[in-house]
Amino acid sequence: MESLIQSWDGELVVVRHDAVTGAWMFIAIHSTRLGPADGGTRLLAYASAIDALRLAEGMTLKYAIASFSRGGGKAVIAVPGVMEADARNGLLRRHGELVGKLGGLFRTGPDVGTSAEDMDEIARAAGPYVDGRTSRPSGRVDTAALTAIGVWVALQVVCGEIFGSPSVAGRSFLVQGFGKVGEALVGRLRLAGARILVSDTDPQRLRRAMNLPGVGAIAAERVYETECDVFVPCALGGVLNGRTIPRLRCHAVAGAANNQLGAACDADLLHARNILYAPDYVINLGGAIGGTGVEHMGWSLAQAEREITDTVHRTLTGVFAAALAANGSPDRAARRLAEERLQQADSSRAAGPRTMIHHGR
Ligand code: NAI
Ligand code: PHE
Repeated sequence: MESLIQSWDGELVVVRHDAVTGAWMFIAIHSTRLGPADGGTRLLAYASAIDALRLAEGMTLKYAIASFSRGGGKAVIAVPGVMEADARNGLLRRHGELVGKLGGLFRTGPDVGTSAEDMDEIARAAGPYVDGRTSRPSGRVDTAALTAIGVWVALQVVCGEIFGSPSVAGRSFLVQGFGKVGEALVGRLRLAGARILVSDTDPQRLRRAMNLPGVGAIAAERVYETECDVFVPCALGGVLNGRTIPRLRCHAVAGAANNQLGAACDADLLHARNILYAPDYVINLGGAIGGTGVEHMGWSLAQAEREITDTVHRTLTGVFAAALAANGSPDRAARRLAEERLQQADSSRAAGPRTMIHHGR
């Protein structure tokens, strides 16, 4: 753990072992250069501190790309296995205590393995620093549905780049992970006449997908060599690496999963194989900015949809153009853009007081 933290460029890691359940809790605050850190709480067996560190960095990039005054953070609760409801709720409340003690330096919301009901539980102890709860004055905000909007826009931009038309009709999409975001995205793709293949390691989730007319199933271990137009990772991170990239038989990769690249240099492998990669933090920012917009900035859901559509369309188009001009990968172009925005924020902060939640362009 020490060497992990030593080689990380973030600001703060909070670690707590929960003696009652044996779970580990990690809160990683990667950057507060743009504002208080914000990121979901992931609850998973086999999760680790390194997940929290890398996911928090992804959140920094996401908010910087969107010019939102939020920093990057993430919470990961690594559980020993399946838990009874009471034990799980107790654990979530103790996580909430930890979030509360940070006094607003870190805000959280749902992610893999957590729901709106779980946010209610965390909020019991964390107070106001929790979004995505079941009931709020602004109504229930489904960050997964908002995320799917941005990914849907990105898939059309990607089709425009590789086929010369944004239409997804008749194109094939392999969606890895039929969870909250994957299901919402498949719904949009089906309505638009796309050909869809789905893979999910959870047999129940896979059956649910297969019940949809026109959706085919792919075994999880066959995903990488299955031919498709666009591979759409919507499960966990690290799926694009030195072992999987050589096997891919697609024109592009664009999906919701956070931290799809095993390492930043894997984007160059995709580029060398002429596979167009839409960086995850550019296209999956819908939940982050839509959630913040609706819960804290008075946006309606319709306005959130417009803002997400506009941000993803404009940014991804610009990133692809910059990558082409530099003959580099879109990931490098997007990281440059995020870093520029962080530096702009540093210089304007040096010049005067910071607005905490400001949406600037
Ligand atoms: P989820 O937990 O609802 O769904 C994930 C699905 O992936 C599950 O059905 C699971 O069985 C499946 N899965 C896990 N490992 C798999 C594998 N190796 N192959 C195939 N399927 C596998 O999670 P959710 O919320 O849909 O998130 C999906 C991804 O999108 C995550 O990486 C998350 O961090 C990211 N994301 C989620 C946002 C949200 O608001 N929910 C926002 C932005 C990104
Ligand atoms: N977990 C989602 C993401 O990674 C949505 C989210 C964003 C939740 C910000 C809380 C805070 O973008």
